[in-house]
Amino acid sequence: MHRRRPIYLALILLTAALAACASAQPPNSSPSGAKKFRIGMSQANNAEPWRAAMNAQIAAAAATRPELEVTFTDAQQNNAQQVADVEQFMSSGVDLLIISPNEATPLTNVVAKAYDKGIPVIVLDRKVNGEKYTMWIGADNRLIGRKAGEYVATWCKAQMRVPCGVIELRGLEGSTPALERGDGFREGIAANANVKIIANQNADWIYDKAISLAEAMFKANAAVDVVYGHNDPMGEAAITAAKNISRDISKTLVIGIDALPTPDGGIQSVLNRRLSITYVYPTGGAQAIEWAAKILEEKATPPKEVVLETEEVTSANAAAIYQKYGGK
Ligand code: FRU
Repeated sequence: MHRRRPIYLALILLTAALAACASAQPPNSSPSGAKKFRIGMSQANNAEPWRAAMNAQIAAAAATRPELEVTFTDAQQNNAQQVADVEQFMSSGVDLLIISPNEATPLTNVVAKAYDKGIPVIVLDRKVNGEKYTMWIGADNRLIGRKAGEYVATWCKAQMRVPCGVIELRGLEGSTPALERGDGFREGIAANANVKIIANQNADWIYDKAISLAEAMFKANAAVDVVYGHNDPMGEAAITAAKNISRDISKTLVIGIDALPTPDGGIQSVLNRRLSITYVYPTGGAQAIEWAAKILEEKATPPKEVVLETEEVTSANAAAIYQKYGGK
């Protein structure tokens, strides 16, 4: 009896030591003991298909990394809501913020505030003003616009359309891709002086808004050679608008941007001979999670910008591109 005492004592001490270890674990540890990093993802508007795809890619990439936990918010295209969402992430103490900002100027200060607090901030797709963020990931919207403009310049020449009238359905004015896609397009069409933008309207990226605007633009312009939609939903809206008012646009070039590899996305639309061309605009969701992991786990210093590849989708390559991007 006497001799067993040291064993009991050792057991008691061991148990106490283990209990102390357990309670010393940080509160955000996972049951396996690995560190859990909390990421806030502030989305501008879940209701748009391309943004739903971005969220899905983020969720899928994060699911392969159990140490990352992502919480999503949806600002529903409301800047004030998105500012509040980011404030909320800051007060809940996220380890990293990913944001796809609705408009640049209204979101700039809150992004800078998070960055100044030492929270790494990954800005995705649309930009903010200035430099107060950790990194930006997205495709080159000016380049996409320029490629579209060059395509139009060449097409109008080949079709001998003189003049060659373009109607433009623009994205939300304060969002950087709208400005860049508009400016790039103007650079591209400069190669053919016969190309004229005869009307342009902001449809704010939204299919429903673009339908009525496109109807009015068709009614006001007897000859429309080209429709330039800043995204696929607005290109599709022009097709719906023409149908609504029984306007024949079979000889009209209809352009979109996004090219989601989904049954109702832009690539399939090109295959169905609805949109004439579109451009792959990657969401960057998977890359954002890769970089988040590097920043949080390896303390990596990322590049300020990661520019994603784009591709022109025409009826000649649409089937191959659909496959390449895993279309189902
Ligand atoms: C969705 C969307 C996309 C577009 C991107 C630009 O909100 O309009 O269709 O390519 O945003 O930021």
